[in-house]
Amino acid sequence: MKKVLIAGGSGFVGQALQSFFRFKSIEFNVLSRNIYSERSNYFQWIPEENYIDLNSLVDVFCIINLSGENISEKPWTNKRKKQLYESRILTSQLLFDSIQKLSTKPEVIICASAIGYYESKESDRCFDETSKSGSSYLSTLCVQWEESSLKFISLGLRTIVLRFGIVLGKSGGAFPKLLFPAKFHLGTILSHGRQFMPYIHIDDLCNLILHCIEVKNINGIYNAVNGDHVTNESFCRTLANKVSRFVFIFKVPRIIIELLLGKMSTVLLDGNKVSSKKIEATGFLFQFKDLNMTFDNILKK
Ligand SMILES: NC(=O)c1ccc[n+]([C@@H]2O[C@H](COP(=O)([O-])OP(=O)(O)OC[C@H]3O[C@@H](n4cnc5c(N)ncnc54)[C@H](OP(=O)(O)O)[C@@H]3O)[C@@H](O)[C@H]2O)c1
Repeated sequence: MKKVLIAGGSGFVGQALQSFFRFKSIEFNVLSRNIYSERSNYFQWIPEENYIDLNSLVDVFCIINLSGENISEKPWTNKRKKQLYESRILTSQLLFDSIQKLSTKPEVIICASAIGYYESKESDRCFDETSKSGSSYLSTLCVQWEESSLKFISLGLRTIVLRFGIVLGKSGGAFPKLLFPAKFHLGTILSHGRQFMPYIHIDDLCNLILHCIEVKNINGIYNAVNGDHVTNESFCRTLANKVSRFVFIFKVPRIIIELLLGKMSTVLLDGNKVSSKKIEATGFLFQFKDLNMTFDNILKK
């Protein structure tokens, strides 16, 4: 049976995918910078040294590339920007060079990107895959990231780039941080709260990735968001009300967030409506279509 290779598969999305593939009896390997002797399907790579264990690619028909330093973990200093860039572009390049040498190549590659690709507008405009990129740091990074991913087309691989929205799940990503104040009966609206927060439930994302593997005419760029256009304020109020009957909602002024986070504040302060129509037109059905369904499911886990 042929396998899937998950590059950067040890993180939040990768771990959820691992459980999902186990449940679906899909065999997979994981590429990580760390090596775990007890995990026989983990293989090492060190992208900055151009090293990869080529055994990771044996019998692999599909690659899912999730690699990348966390965008919102540390301030965007020049050193950090270099890490954010290299962890995406060097990894893609190393996969590209390795696949190029194989006599039997994988059939399909699915690469992560982010809805940070789009320009941020406080308007009712809904961005789709044909919309142009923004000019912010994050947009520029996404453009370079996607360019490095789309190179796989030249190797004959069916190449799919998924622009992830905020991935919501219990065990990682943004949700635990957003939940924290709600546990103390607090709802924190960021700035005016009108910025949109395109999101996707982690289970929907795993199903969407499998859908992209299985439906052979899926190719190119797709938004991975559920199409529920919610603002930061409604997100915050809905979550706080799910956790507690008595909540004190307050607004954190924009200037405070900017002072605390510098340029990285754009991750919290900017946001657009993003369309899910293109992926839905391929026959994909979202299970978690609104915040109520999403939060009810995550909170009961
Ligand atoms: N979670 C979200 O809401 C969200 C939204 C939009 C886009 N994305 C993107 O989707 C991808 C997966 O997200 P995630 O939440 O699973 O991220 P994550 O938990 O931070 O995991 C990212 C993975 O990338 C690998 N990695 C980190 N730095 C690296 C480096 N310098 N060189 C090579 N590999 C490196 C890590 O693997 P090892 O440490 O094992 O090597 C890690 O498992 C990321 O690229 C992220 O930017 C995520």
